[in-house]
Amino acid sequence: MALLPTLTFVARSVPQGGTTVLTVAAGPAFGDIGTTLDQASGGTLTRAAGVARFTGKRFAAVDVVAPAGLDRAILLGLGTPGDVSETDWVRLGGIAMGKLLDSGAETATIVLELPGGGVTADIAADFALGLKLRAYEFDLYKSKKPDDEGRKLTSISLAIGNPSAADTAFRSRSAIANGVILARDLVNEPANVLGPEEFAARAAALDALGVEVEILEETAMAKLGMNALLGVAQGSVRPPRLVILKWNGGGDSQPVAFVGKGVVFDTGGISIKPAAGMEDMKGDMGGAAAVTGLMAALAGRKAKVNAIGVLGLVENMPDGKAQRPGDIVRSMAGVTIEVINTDAEGRLVLCDALHYTIERFKPKFVVDLATLTGAIVVALGHHMTGMYSTDDQIAADLDKAGKATGELVWRMPLAPEYDKLIEAKFADIKNTGGRDAGSITAAQFLKRFVGETPWVHLDIAGTAMGSPQTDINKSWGSGWGVRILDRFVADFHEV
Ligand code: BES
Ligand code: ZN
Ligand code: MN
Repeated sequence: MALLPTLTFVARSVPQGGTTVLTVAAGPAFGDIGTTLDQASGGTLTRAAGVARFTGKRFAAVDVVAPAGLDRAILLGLGTPGDVSETDWVRLGGIAMGKLLDSGAETATIVLELPGGGVTADIAADFALGLKLRAYEFDLYKSKKPDDEGRKLTSISLAIGNPSAADTAFRSRSAIANGVILARDLVNEPANVLGPEEFAARAAALDALGVEVEILEETAMAKLGMNALLGVAQGSVRPPRLVILKWNGGGDSQPVAFVGKGVVFDTGGISIKPAAGMEDMKGDMGGAAAVTGLMAALAGRKAKVNAIGVLGLVENMPDGKAQRPGDIVRSMAGVTIEVINTDAEGRLVLCDALHYTIERFKPKFVVDLATLTGAIVVALGHHMTGMYSTDDQIAADLDKAGKATGELVWRMPLAPEYDKLIEAKFADIKNTGGRDAGSITAAQFLKRFVGETPWVHLDIAGTAMGSPQTDINKSWGSGWGVRILDRFVADFHEV
């Protein structure tokens, strides 16, 4: 990925040249430094705002070239200062970064100010989180342009009242951003580069953050009886891996657990998918990417929680050895499954990963994330993740964490009525329930494997990749899940 500009918090002072972003409240109402610069330029900033009909409306921005000895002043609207929310500050940071990248400047200063003061360390840190998330770009495989059209921005100074407090507040946000960026990188990488073994190696690198890493290979999984997961893997020349990530930063001896679907590529297998858009299935490991990013975030900010992350890594391919429609596999839980459609592979991977996680770690609850069904995209589009839960409290907490971070969830129903749709002719259950309620029957399938452990399933098929670009994400792989789950842990499960 492209190098991120360095971010440094510095004391407030009037910029003496170069490129500057100035925050401006509704009016437009400048802060102290904006007012000073406006006066020094003989009112150029006010005049430019007028000509551009810039009123300081939230998220509006205007570019003023060469005022008062500066190269450029970018006026960034805050709207009414009293009601700028946390997600607004993050988004404002994203907008500022977009403007700065476009400006061609190599260095820049951002003056974060409100008329009358009141920019706290948390506000500065939220804004900086937005800067960092927006700056991410996956350009690993783009050859450098000869004519130097590339990005030039290398460093940004953020001028605020208490730089050292902001620095401290940003430390945890920066760790979270690193987790998001890791998840984005994993989703964006093509499947030839990122197979199950390569993914496992990248997850293993979290040991540098203090995460304990265990990797199960095929023989170990076979011994455990993970035949549902192995059945999916058998059509690929690349062997599967089950990765277990442990972060214990204190807290309860009973851990919280997160399980991710990590299908590094999904052709559908023998029930092969149509060619159009199949390249997007390199992102079918978005659940495992989110869990990896989450564990990186928790360890990176030394979260006081005992957390387990489990990744089910396989490739779903058609082959002479591939699993067939009609095959029956016995899952680790002892449930027999009739494989009606080899393209419904995610639930086959997850049922063994979930059972293993619950049996071994006896967690307080388990949250799984998976790019599981096209049906959830039909239901919710790309703006919200489908959430299924057996626990109303956890669902409510996740909803709050989603609203606080802007990673939104919408609760979907679980009900025994849907079980009929996955009753099999020859086995205990089958792996598809037909077209109707496709995301619900997938969730209902997973529910068979979680017993009494409180459980949440997040179907992120619409949000993990190809979701609409925003002011804080210009990447195909969005890293969805890292921020909501980190916040969920921080607000409800840290000691
Ligand atoms: N990985 C896909 C689901 C998916 C679709 C993810 C679109 C991201 C974007 C999953 O393995 C799949 O193929 N699901 C099938 C299930 C069906 C065969 C019951 C689907 O949704 O069509
Ligand atoms: Zn899939
Ligand atoms: Mn599939």
